Amino acid sequence: MAAAGQGMDPLRVGFVGAGRMAEAIAQGFIRAGKVEAQHILASAPTDRNLSHFQALGCRTTHSNQEVLQNCFLVFFATKPHVLPAVLAEVAPVVTAEHILVSVAAGVSLSTLEELLPPTARVLRVSPNLPCMVQEGAMVMARGRHAGSSEATLLQTLLEACGQCEEVPEAHVDIHTGLSGSGVAFVCAFSEALAEGAIKMGMPGGLAHRIAAQTLLGTAKMLQQKGQHPAQLRTDVCTPGGTTIYGLHALEQGGLRAATMSAVEAATCRARELSGK
Ligand SMILES: NC(=O)c1ccc[n+]([C@@H]2O[C@H](COP(=O)([O-])OP(=O)(O)OC[C@H]3O[C@@H](n4cnc5c(N)ncnc54)[C@H](OP(=O)(O)O)[C@@H]3O)[C@@H](O)[C@H]2O)c1
Repeated sequence: MAAAGQGMDPLRVGFVGAGRMAEAIAQGFIRAGKVEAQHILASAPTDRNLSHFQALGCRTTHSNQEVLQNCFLVFFATKPHVLPAVLAEVAPVVTAEHILVSVAAGVSLSTLEELLPPTARVLRVSPNLPCMVQEGAMVMARGRHAGSSEATLLQTLLEACGQCEEVPEAHVDIHTGLSGSGVAFVCAFSEALAEGAIKMGMPGGLAHRIAAQTLLGTAKMLQQKGQHPAQLRTDVCTPGGTTIYGLHALEQGGLRAATMSAVEAATCRARELSGK
């Protein structure tokens, strides 16, 4: 993909912070052929994670400013509490050409804009860990000076890592509760599903493989058929059959209320961390 109209060709993408999320996104870009590995530059204080970028064929540095000086599209992927100091460090080399993307949970667009030069083009992305297998569920929101061309460029690139929808910023913390944290909720459910089978005598390895494939297959059906989950659930229930007996037990255990509370609690925590 050429960096049309940005005065730099080919597209050079930078990562400030080179941990799991940065690697997942970079890997998606490279695998999908959206960005060549040699055109990705990542920075971090140590070589611990940079070695993973080197293994992908990317360039690395210990200088955050060097990333900004070489790339016009830059992802900030440090832990949220580190980000303010990192933005203060790179602010002197930010230009009108840059598109700056933060993936840090709970750091608002207004905070990002306050820490960067006044007209900086800033966007915020909430990713989740399945970006690592190009099945991420992401949302993005744009700051005051980021236009539709920046949003389109980012969205087109991020499709390499899964789905990405543009949303109002108010939905970003909810996405963190639903999807960022949701990965852990789904893992807890998958584990419980398998343990039910283990309790009934199935070997553990087999039970966990079947549970994971059941989640994958169900998710694919929901996506491909575009059905409401209640419809698919009803379709699986034969009157007087096994599934309705199981669902009754699930409702008695409070699964629905517990899951809704989990998303609510994670969203509230994300809002608390972003100071709202
Ligand atoms: N993981 C997820 O599921 C997930 C989901 C949604 C959002 N996020 C967001 O993604 C961001 C990154 O998360 P992660 O899980 O990838 O974290 P991580 O694996 O801990 O990576 C953090 C990276 O930041 C680097 N770093 C630390 N101080 C730095 C500095 N001063 N300048 C430049 N780089 C610095 C670290 O360097 P070293 O390599 O030297 O340690 C490391 O490479 C977080 O803000 C998080 O909120 C993550």
